[in-house]
Amino acid sequence: MAAKTKTVYVCRECGAESPKWMGRCNQCGEWNTFTEEQVVVSSKSSFAAGGADAPTSSVNIKPMVLSDVVVGEVQRSSTANAELDRVLGGGIVPGALILIGGEPGIGKSTLVLQVALTLPDKRVLYISGEESAQQIKIRAERISMAKMDNCLVVSDTNIDHIHQHIKAANPDIVVIDSIQTVETERVDSLPGSVSQIRECTGILMRIAKEQHLPIILIGHINKDGQLAGPKVLEHMVDVVLQFEGDRNHMYRILRGIKNRFGSTNEIGIFEMLGDGLREVSNPSEMLLSEWDEQLSGVAIAAAMEGARPFLIEIQALASSAAYGTPQRSATGFDGRRLNMLLAVLEKRAGFKLATKDVFLNVAGGIRVVDTAVDLAVAASILSSNTDITINPGICLAGEIGLSGEIRPVTRIEQRISEAAKLGFKHIVIPKFSRLDVSKYDIEVHQVSRLDQAFRLLFQ
Ligand code: TYD
Ligand code: MG
Repeated sequence: MAAKTKTVYVCRECGAESPKWMGRCNQCGEWNTFTEEQVVVSSKSSFAAGGADAPTSSVNIKPMVLSDVVVGEVQRSSTANAELDRVLGGGIVPGALILIGGEPGIGKSTLVLQVALTLPDKRVLYISGEESAQQIKIRAERISMAKMDNCLVVSDTNIDHIHQHIKAANPDIVVIDSIQTVETERVDSLPGSVSQIRECTGILMRIAKEQHLPIILIGHINKDGQLAGPKVLEHMVDVVLQFEGDRNHMYRILRGIKNRFGSTNEIGIFEMLGDGLREVSNPSEMLLSEWDEQLSGVAIAAAMEGARPFLIEIQALASSAAYGTPQRSATGFDGRRLNMLLAVLEKRAGFKLATKDVFLNVAGGIRVVDTAVDLAVAASILSSNTDITINPGICLAGEIGLSGEIRPVTRIEQRISEAAKLGFKHIVIPKFSRLDVSKYDIEVHQVSRLDQAFRLLFQ
């Protein structure tokens, strides 16, 4: 049977296919996501989709009663990188397909190569479709502690070649940099397209599962902050980690988005240095290094990222708007939440901010999603607006509600302990009825309304 090509339109978000172009995907509801792709319908039907040449032996497997299923101990192998181990839930599981996403230039290749070069007693096959073996060597030479004897590198993009390289090298772990460059002849569209990514990931998934071989895929993120390629890529893999940070700062956060073998509550923190990435085991140092002078517009938040407490500096600048419409801009914090907090300050606490430009910045180029930083955000804005400094021995944790109430936050004990450990004298927190504050070496102030908090800070 001769190969036929057909044109299909594929949604970049969810991977839905349609014979004609549509403005809005009727599966996921996103607008303008359909792209045209040529698909070869060949006699060699798709391997990943379970076509004609896919094995049919699976009929021998019978369903089992769940209580009879025997589970061996999951063998996790440590990566010798404490921050990566933490995000993975303790190490790499055999047969896991791990996707590490991030913006171009953020340091994905550096992170994975560094892990490959410092893994104890493991043979790593590093397949790059983006760089030549020479370029990888140059990068490896920058990384201190690198041991180059256990790492095989090859520059290739064809999935069948990659399969053969894996068979021939018989590695303990495989790295593909990046999944967007891998292609297969079975699909007649460009590398990086939805069908290519889906087909190639499917093949890699089979290799990982059949050979109990962990495979790390690197993936790019598009300008909207989404992993480029279809959502199906995220559905197919076992673990999705996102590497993020501000390229002008040196701190990077590795965040768990999905993990079939552990929690997604964990984050790993790194610092990009001239000789590779350094693990940051005490995240509050991000704050303390920049914290020497007393300035107005600065407040310290006792924040949590995942399961880790850390103290972070929030900086605000409120100044009279030069033009009619005031500007509001937030770096490292949700802009819509900033607008909400400004409205609450205006309406519930009587501060005249409607004619002010407000700029907000989280120190260290870190993005915080914890709502407990609300109180520090509001305090920094008022500190800047009134030009009164906040006592540097005070830190804050509290979520602000729409009526100006301070709402409870998670893991308050951990936040208090962290603040005490770092030498803070006071912490302002929401009211908790069952909290034993006498055990901490820090003065704990419990407040239930915004005005109580401000009286404490600015009296
Ligand atoms: P890279 O890992 O290539 O990013 P990605 O794979 O995500 O596109 O590297 C990003 C940047 O890191 C690059 O601009 C150079 C810098 N870098 C360091 O600062 N220190 C180092 O040791 C290395 C290897 C790179
Ligand atoms: Mg790269």
